[in-house]
Amino acid sequence: MAMDKGLDAFKNESVESVIDTSKKVKVGIVGCGWIAGSHIEQYLKMEDVELVAVADLVPGKAEAFLAKYGVEGARCYPSHKELIDNEELDAVSICTYNCQHAEPTIYALEHGVNVMLEKPFTVTLDEAVAVMKAEKKSGKILTIGFQPRMSENMQMIKRIVESGELGDIYYLQAGGGRRRGIPTPFGTTFIEKETGGIGAVGDIGSYSLDMLLNAVGYPKPLTVTGYTSNFFGTDPKYYSNHPEYAEKFGVDDFAAAFVRLEGGIILDFRISWAMHMDTCGDALILGTKGGLRIPSTDCWNGEFDTPLKVYRNVGDKVPMCYEVPMIPSKTSFFYQKIRSFIDEVKKPAGEGKATVPSAQILYNQAIIDGIVKSNDLGREIEIEIPEI
Ligand SMILES: NC(=O)c1ccc[n+]([C@@H]2O[C@H](COP(=O)([O-])OP(=O)(O)OC[C@H]3O[C@@H](n4cnc5c(N)ncnc54)[C@H](O)[C@@H]3O)[C@@H](O)[C@H]2O)c1
Repeated sequence: MAMDKGLDAFKNESVESVIDTSKKVKVGIVGCGWIAGSHIEQYLKMEDVELVAVADLVPGKAEAFLAKYGVEGARCYPSHKELIDNEELDAVSICTYNCQHAEPTIYALEHGVNVMLEKPFTVTLDEAVAVMKAEKKSGKILTIGFQPRMSENMQMIKRIVESGELGDIYYLQAGGGRRRGIPTPFGTTFIEKETGGIGAVGDIGSYSLDMLLNAVGYPKPLTVTGYTSNFFGTDPKYYSNHPEYAEKFGVDDFAAAFVRLEGGIILDFRISWAMHMDTCGDALILGTKGGLRIPSTDCWNGEFDTPLKVYRNVGDKVPMCYEVPMIPSKTSFFYQKIRSFIDEVKKPAGEGKATVPSAQILYNQAIIDGIVKSNDLGREIEIEIPEI
């Protein structure tokens, strides 16, 4: 007999969806570096996933990776090609450095495998277009690994914009950034041209772009005046233990840009791995009826830790401001990112959708690509996005 729950019915219980474990999704991981650790941890929590194989170019790294996570029975391969050629995969995580995002992703899609690709999408716009052509031909799912999309506080930014509370949006300001945060704790793959390809502009710039552009419906970028610099990364004095990294540094450690977006929206962008400043400021969204302040973080790769603030007038003239209460997160964003991908992979063929679709992130990549090209040319450029 059903129990009358009375007032307990109003308790905020988390409702876990029931996971069907009758069929296991066969998963592989390409690249066994730092972020692959997060992917494997999530996959190992899922009873409906079988991790069948991993690959890494560095001899012994794949084996050591499986041993570290106590995985037995999965196979190791020397690159994405052998893994995909030899296994019947349903899905693969591409966890390689930026310059090896496009090739393994295209290879997986061409072989009928659904892909979770780590951010940034690619290094260049041309690569992103090539990946999307392969995606279109394959009919498979390609989702990009922006875990902040899973945060309810991040989602609130989009909800506020969509509610009309801010009116028509005309200006976006990216901010945040690091005073001293060139990512070299695990070696130099982020800072070398041959592996990272792009620096702060792609690594953490892609997060702040996604946060703002997603909120306003990802308008198409039209023109960009971009600037990048590398004063810190190329200075041996920056590195406490590895002055030789300065020689290897081949990307940007700071970027700024002025971007015109479709719909008359201006994006004022800046991002930093290193600078003589604590932050480039909060992120701002200005609309005709209100403004939104998103508190500065190092890179918006998770969420912010103080409340959003909305600025509006009471009546026609009296300025006021209110804080948006923070929502405590129930599960890790990394878990939700992988879980949502697997849930979509499990849907009948053709029904699964990308949580973070390439069609949106194409514009993110076009801006990054435009900043790099505009800096090289020393002038404003028009952003041209080929047909896919
Ligand atoms: N979502 C996040 O929070 C987050 C955090 C860190 C890094 N990342 C992204 O993840 C990617 C990887 O970062 P990382 O810190 O793990 O880098 P990493 O250099 O530690 O690891 C990358 C690994 O990929 C391997 N590799 C490269 N090409 C390969 C190929 N074709 N086949 C097999 N192995 C290959 C390399 O040998 C290396 O071991 C980057 O693009 C980065 O931007 C995302």
